Amino acid sequence: MPTVKLHQNGEVYQQEVDANSNLVVLAGVKKFPHLKYGCGMGKCTKCTVKVISGGESLPEPNWKENKMLGDKLGEGYRLACQLYISENIEIVQE
Ligand code: FES
Repeated sequence: MPTVKLHQNGEVYQQEVDANSNLVVLAGVKKFPHLKYGCGMGKCTKCTVKVISGGESLPEPNWKENKMLGDKLGEGYRLACQLYISENIEIVQE
């Protein structure tokens, strides 16, 4: 099972999740409770995270991420609602 390490407001939350989990879906059922999110559909950017490590295991950004994040993709930002986690990952959410 992949481990997700989330940095947020000076706190670090670490948790194992099932392979191919979507963190926003988990947050919605209180199984990944610290993640901030909104629409769950790639439209609001409230779920934006910066990937510190493990990004190579993620799929290429989809059209929603390209549209909403633009140049920030190159800085490591992703929309958590558009990602399925298959390997360990470390992310920051402001
Ligand atoms: S939750 Fe709205 S873009 Fe991800």
